Amino acid sequence: MSKRKIRVALAGLRFGAAFIPIYIHHPDVEHLGIVDTDPDMLREQGDKFLVERRHGYLDEVLGSGDYDAVHLVTPIPIHAEQTVAVLEAGLHCACTVPMATGIDDLRAILAAQRASSKNYMMMETAVYTRRFLYVQELLERGELGRIQFLRGAHYQDMENWPPYWMGLPPMHYATHAVSPILALANTRATEVHCYGSGRMREELREQYGNPFPVETAIFRLEGTDVCAEVTRSLFHTARDYTESFNVYGEKATFEWQQLEKEEDPVVFRATNDCSTTGRRVPVPDRQDLLPPEIARFTQRGVYDESSPHLSFLQGGGHGGSHPHLVHEFVRSIIEARPPAIDAVTAANWTAAGVCAHESAMTGGEAVIIPDFRAEGTS
Ligand SMILES: NC(=O)c1ccc[n+]([C@@H]2O[C@H](COP(=O)([O-])OP(=O)(O)OC[C@H]3O[C@@H](n4cnc5c(N)ncnc54)[C@H](O)[C@@H]3O)[C@@H](O)[C@H]2O)c1
Repeated sequence: MSKRKIRVALAGLRFGAAFIPIYIHHPDVEHLGIVDTDPDMLREQGDKFLVERRHGYLDEVLGSGDYDAVHLVTPIPIHAEQTVAVLEAGLHCACTVPMATGIDDLRAILAAQRASSKNYMMMETAVYTRRFLYVQELLERGELGRIQFLRGAHYQDMENWPPYWMGLPPMHYATHAVSPILALANTRATEVHCYGSGRMREELREQYGNPFPVETAIFRLEGTDVCAEVTRSLFHTARDYTESFNVYGEKATFEWQQLEKEEDPVVFRATNDCSTTGRRVPVPDRQDLLPPEIARFTQRGVYDESSPHLSFLQGGGHGGSHPHLVHEFVRSIIEARPPAIDAVTAANWTAAGVCAHESAMTGGEAVIIPDFRAEGTS
């Protein structure tokens, strides 16, 4: 194994702060710098985690020669522009979801990635949760049998979130529901019919011209006889937050629980007498897939970072996915290979939602989803 280490900058420190201690402790990271345009946020997170390298602007990082890679956790409307800037500066780029919210921007990122030959990874938490890793293993062991149908749902109310969320088309932030089903089916979506549902208050329609608080779509999946259904709600819907997927197999089915914190998911298994048995299954935490230095960050716990005076709650968000994402991004660079969610995969997953909203705006007409494989090298 290579002894080379990489130097990482992390930009956007609200949700992004969850990743600071993971990079600090990753054995293949030489140093971490943090970036935020809000000086109070920069000071607060820098002091909390004892990070010396602090930058008020991404440009300071790009021209410095002090970094090999940037992880963007900045607002959605600037993902595309910042990703292209990072890649054009010759640095590897990880970016939180969504990759972008328009097909032209997806293409611009693919072109920048191809021109730079640097790694791009979309940091999709939904494909590194405990439940996703568990179902992936069931599938690989043949326990689900042939997949017959898939369903994804992401319900979340974004009332009172930062202004760029207000009125966002639900399918423009669909990757948490789309990605697990496309990853498990190991293919891309080719065509979508989508309907908008419900009534949005007038002022929420202004920013994006989107009239729908909920959108629901059916996707055709390439090379299979399977279709998948995805539902997204963003406003005005009385449902607890969940990012879920269900997989219906010939031998067994996995269904996400309804009450996120109180219940375990259910596995139904076909029996020899043509009936099924269902039982709730506790899903294991996969710390065994991680270096020991960062394994603890799958769980929320009280940590003491570097200084005996500092101890605080950290880690454990999004089904334990954060350290797995960091590890995959870092190792892909060290091993000089494409990351698991490379630019083409990310564009295919993101475009499914972008095209679904386009379909909803035309009353459910079929929209063909571009195939990005010819446009990327990774
Ligand atoms: N499960 C997930 O994968 C998940 C969960 C939450 C958020 N997200 C994504 O993470 C991103 C950030 O979410 P959030 O809730 O923290 O957003 P936010 O808008 O509340 O915070 C973004 C942070 O970025 C900083 N920032 C703004 N412009 C910047 C710039 N040009 N350069 C550097 N820093 C800048 C802001 O000061 C702020 O601290 C969003 O894109 C969101 O889609 C993903």
